[in-house]
Amino acid sequence: MPMVKIRMKIAIINGPNLNLLGKREPEIYGTQSFTAYFEKLKEKFQDVELHYFQSNHEGQLLDYLHDIGFHFDGIILNAGAYTHTSIAIADAIAAISTPVIEVHISNVYNREDFRHKSFLSRNCKGLIVGLGLLGYELGIQAFLES
Ligand code: DQA
Repeated sequence: MPMVKIRMKIAIINGPNLNLLGKREPEIYGTQSFTAYFEKLKEKFQDVELHYFQSNHEGQLLDYLHDIGFHFDGIILNAGAYTHTSIAIADAIAAISTPVIEVHISNVYNREDFRHKSFLSRNCKGLIVGLGLLGYELGIQAFLES
């Protein structure tokens, strides 16, 4: 009987201002656009069904989490500044069954104090902070190995 290989479904979600990666404060966030990086990720993880969603709007982030959060295998979430403000996104992560890994490109702990508080972390499977775009790739790897 032929074996049907089921690909893991993993989504990367970026929050506000992360559509500007590559142009936005390159000394902090680097010079690569996320869309270019995402192409490389798809190339690297051909056995994974990778999805990408970005929004600058909190409600749209919530809707997407609700849409995928009961049938995807993993979510890698960089909620940008909403990390530090959004109880609604924290509640959505708690509400869904898909595990979420929180990613930050910069090391939020060596930046302003207001970036040290995450409302999301306690509801996440894990956190990857300060390793640049590599953090997203490590998040995928973590789901593949767990
Ligand atoms: C960020 C860190 C946040 O404090 C900031 O608001 C962002 C990006 C990061 O990836 O380093 O927008 O989440």
